[in-house]
Amino acid sequence: MRKHIVAGNWKMNNDLPQTQALIDDLKRQQINSDAEVMIAPTFTNLWHAFDQLNKTKIEVIAQNMHFAEHGAFTGEVSASMLKSVGVNTVILGHSERRAYFNETDELLAKKVDSALVNNMRVIFCFGEELQDRKSGNHEQVVERQIKNALFHLDASAFKNIVLAYEPVWAIGTGETASPEQAQDMHKFIRTTLANKYDETTANQVSILYGGSVKPNNAKEIFSKPDVDGGLIGGAALKAEDFFAIVNAF
Ligand code: 13P
Repeated sequence: MRKHIVAGNWKMNNDLPQTQALIDDLKRQQINSDAEVMIAPTFTNLWHAFDQLNKTKIEVIAQNMHFAEHGAFTGEVSASMLKSVGVNTVILGHSERRAYFNETDELLAKKVDSALVNNMRVIFCFGEELQDRKSGNHEQVVERQIKNALFHLDASAFKNIVLAYEPVWAIGTGETASPEQAQDMHKFIRTTLANKYDETTANQVSILYGGSVKPNNAKEIFSKPDVDGGLIGGAALKAEDFFAIVNAF
């Protein structure tokens, strides 16, 4: 069976005291779910979060990393640095990284390689913009993003890859893809993987949905057969809301 995953992407929110407060709240919540639970604080709070959550079921993951191992890349953080503070999973390709930091498919392919070489798990994000959806090009856009960044990999690499479909028009807007739109796209993604690799590989990859997932819509979205979890932004900043989503599985 595919893994269910609910990951909270905190984005650039929460300084150290706020991180501590949210972690304290998270620790008070009950996990009544078979989903793996993850949170992605900012770089400065990763070690603290790991230290606090080490013995719990909540995994601390990173929001980004550089592809190089080390060197003259001012302001950047490498896979081995993340691993050294207990982080074994990284989000790559978030639409905000693509839009505001010019991350291209080619750059992301290098980041994916670096994460995998370092035995990290990748949550690889992609998704179309509103104009792509309106013009009916959403499937081509998503197929291209996946192909360019991931299709140089062997099928065996996909045991360390989680996919996250995040339509840009649904991120932070309150507008969610309908459960049917999410299911249709997730099915398309799985078929794309099966065509390139094989059914077994395609059926093993967890595909998360992200974009305005809230306690009141999580259950319906997660009920779809090809939706294996969620990548949560705004609602991950409140422990009760985040766990209401986690416990929707
Ligand atoms: P929201 O849940 O705030 O729409 O953000 C989704 C997201 O970008 C998660 O990575």
